[in-house]
Amino acid sequence: MPSLPALLALLFICWAPLRATASSWWSLAMSPVQRPEMFIIGAQPVCSQLPGLSAGQRKLCQLYQEHMAYIGEGARTGIRECQHQFRQRRWNCSTVDDASVFGRVLQIGRMKYPCVHLARSRSDIRSGLDLVIAQHHVCRVRVQRLVLFSQAVYKTADVACKCHGVSGSCSLKTCWLQLAEFRKVGDQLKEKYDSAAAMRITRRGKLELVNSRFKPPTPEDLVYVDPSPDYCLRDESTGSLGTRGRLCNKTSEGLDGCALMCCGRGYDQFKSVRTERCHCKFHWCCFVRCKKCTQVVDQFVCK
Ligand SMILES: *[C@@H]1O[C@H](CO)[C@@H](O)[C@H](O)[C@H]1NC(C)=O
Ligand SMILES: *[C@@H]1O[C@H](CO)[C@@H](O)[C@H](O)[C@H]1NC(C)=O
Repeated sequence: MPSLPALLALLFICWAPLRATASSWWSLAMSPVQRPEMFIIGAQPVCSQLPGLSAGQRKLCQLYQEHMAYIGEGARTGIRECQHQFRQRRWNCSTVDDASVFGRVLQIGRMKYPCVHLARSRSDIRSGLDLVIAQHHVCRVRVQRLVLFSQAVYKTADVACKCHGVSGSCSLKTCWLQLAEFRKVGDQLKEKYDSAAAMRITRRGKLELVNSRFKPPTPEDLVYVDPSPDYCLRDESTGSLGTRGRLCNKTSEGLDGCALMCCGRGYDQFKSVRTERCHCKFHWCCFVRCKKCTQVVDQFVCK
């Protein structure tokens, strides 16, 4: 599946505001962005009405209005992938019903380390990427995830080719760079997330490993300064929704197991009816007919 929306969203991320704000460009994913045909020439107010855009993003919006619906689609793809990757975690990438999209969670660790902002004078998209890399050096912690995201997209991209010529003789071959399935990008980023290195900021403003026995991170690794909250209980100040009512797996010892998911509070058991397609038969020609099987299964939810 070509993920053009994802790529457009990637370019858009490069212009995301670095400071914590109440609303974010992710909100493009929530309210359906007007269809391209609604971006009539001169309809600039559209861009000023979209919440959460930085000045740079607003400018991109005005230049490429017809792309905005796809950027919204890309943001939706990103959120769906995040929810898939974190489905078994206490924080499961759930969205809240306001313009911040992820609630206060995204603001954790943002306020303490003000970043130097570089002048944003260049205006084409490619310089947007350069800018992110330049800022990477100035303000490593925060911008890093953007750089890693772009790396993950490009590294998982692949060359695809198509043959032309008399009956596919391949006397002429066209090749292009094809973006990977978004799932691959997500898997790679999740791996980086799981192996992120805990850092602290020294008095001289440098980053150093909290545990010096670990290997120092490379520019391709993720680092963090503030540990995440445990997300066990509902807490308005961090945006944690808590895990009460979450489904858990009684037999798993992993993060999806009831012990860890419920933070030791215990769980309730209930029975639910699961309906599946079963005893499928292929009929000549050509359809498949299945029966419906119902099964009563035990489910567990955190107290
Ligand atoms: C994600 O977590 C929230 C809050 O704990 C919960 O309401 C929601 O059902 C969860 N979503 C999934 C898919 O488990
Ligand atoms: C629960 O966890 C066990 C052990 O990890 C696994 O084999 C099983 O498939 C899981 N059950 C569900 C419903 O995910």
